[in-house]
Amino acid sequence: MSSLELLLGTGPSAGGRLSGGCACKVILVGAGPGDPGLLTRKGYDALQSAEVVFFDDLVAAEIIDLLSPRTHRVYVGKPHGTAGLSQADIAEQLIGAARAGRRVVRLKGGDPMVFGRSGEEIDALRAAGIEVDVIPGITAATGAAASTRISLTHRDHAAQVTFVTAARQDGGLADVRGLAGPGRTLVVYMGIARAGALSVALAADGVGADLPVAIVENATRPEERVIITTVGDLADAIARHAVRSPALFIVGKVVETYVPVEATAEAIVGAAGASTTRA
Ligand SMILES: C[S@@+](CC[C@H](N)C(=O)[O-])C[C@H]1O[C@@H](n2cnc3c(N)ncnc32)[C@H](O)[C@@H]1O
Repeated sequence: MSSLELLLGTGPSAGGRLSGGCACKVILVGAGPGDPGLLTRKGYDALQSAEVVFFDDLVAAEIIDLLSPRTHRVYVGKPHGTAGLSQADIAEQLIGAARAGRRVVRLKGGDPMVFGRSGEEIDALRAAGIEVDVIPGITAATGAAASTRISLTHRDHAAQVTFVTAARQDGGLADVRGLAGPGRTLVVYMGIARAGALSVALAADGVGADLPVAIVENATRPEERVIITTVGDLADAIARHAVRSPALFIVGKVVETYVPVEATAEAIVGAAGASTTRA
């Protein structure tokens, strides 16, 4: 068995070595939306004492840079255009490392409990008899609200806010009926590829084409961009500005409170709205 297999508990005899007396644990840590200053103190402490950290694409490089050189880093993401590891494969690796007696952290972008597939991993770890702790992180919606200064529940505009993923597990568009309109803010995660269908679904639900939308790309990161558009223009705005993941949409009247605070030479102001970068 290689030293890596020994560390991760993934070798031929993985799974059985410490069975019985294993005080095995995995800590799920939320890395936040990108700015390393937004990592919680508890999350930072868990990372400092981890021997193995499993992480994926949404975790900012600056957070990985905080790890000790002695900490073993295991990338379990999905490189662009590939399916990546299955949830079962990831769970198997976590279980192997925990059973090998390692201090294991599973690091996830944002908050692990918001669109983070933590439910599946917690189920698998519990089924394997492994204790799970969760340290929350700042989810992308609240990170984006802070960096854009768009209060999601500004009292002049919204008394409720909904976080929705545009992508259902079966690949279809999530049901957005009743989620946007007067008095409501809708924050859409994972919406880039489904923006056109989202606009159609909102229109079918009686949402006006002129309801404002803020597209927030790379929220809280130095390369953050904010594009102000409308429900009717959403897909075209994404194409015009070549919006890339990670990005989310804030949909609702609260977007009217947005003031571009750091407009730069790169700022683009067009008929359909404005785009600003932070850097
Ligand atoms: C699989 S979900 C993970 C959400 C994460 N657990 C959270 O709480 O933020 C990925 C989606 O989150 C959103 N997202 C994550 N980080 C973001 C960021 N820094 N800026 C904008 N959107 C982000 C995007 O919609 C992205 O497609």
